[in-house]
Amino acid sequence: MSPPLFRLLVCVGPRCDATGKGRALLASVEACFAQRFPDELASGRLAIATRDCLRLCTRDPVVRVEPSGEAFSNPTLDDLARLAQAALEDQ
Ligand code: FES
Repeated sequence: MSPPLFRLLVCVGPRCDATGKGRALLASVEACFAQRFPDELASGRLAIATRDCLRLCTRDPVVRVEPSGEAFSNPTLDDLARLAQAALEDQ
């Protein structure tokens, strides 16, 4: 399987998930993407992974996207889905 065209790294580290917000965001992202991008997830073109700290700690959960390397603090699901869609359409 080739590497994903777009990958989300959701931090569930000690600061991002201090009050459970990191894992809550992860669950929301997984549910949203499973609904919007089921084929891309199944084929591995799109992937979601977790990290224990992205060294970008804020009070809110941090997500980094690859391959761009952009990082977001507490992004909305719509924003992440838009980025994923754009990356998939670029290919
Ligand atoms: S704990 Fe999430 S970026 Fe550090």
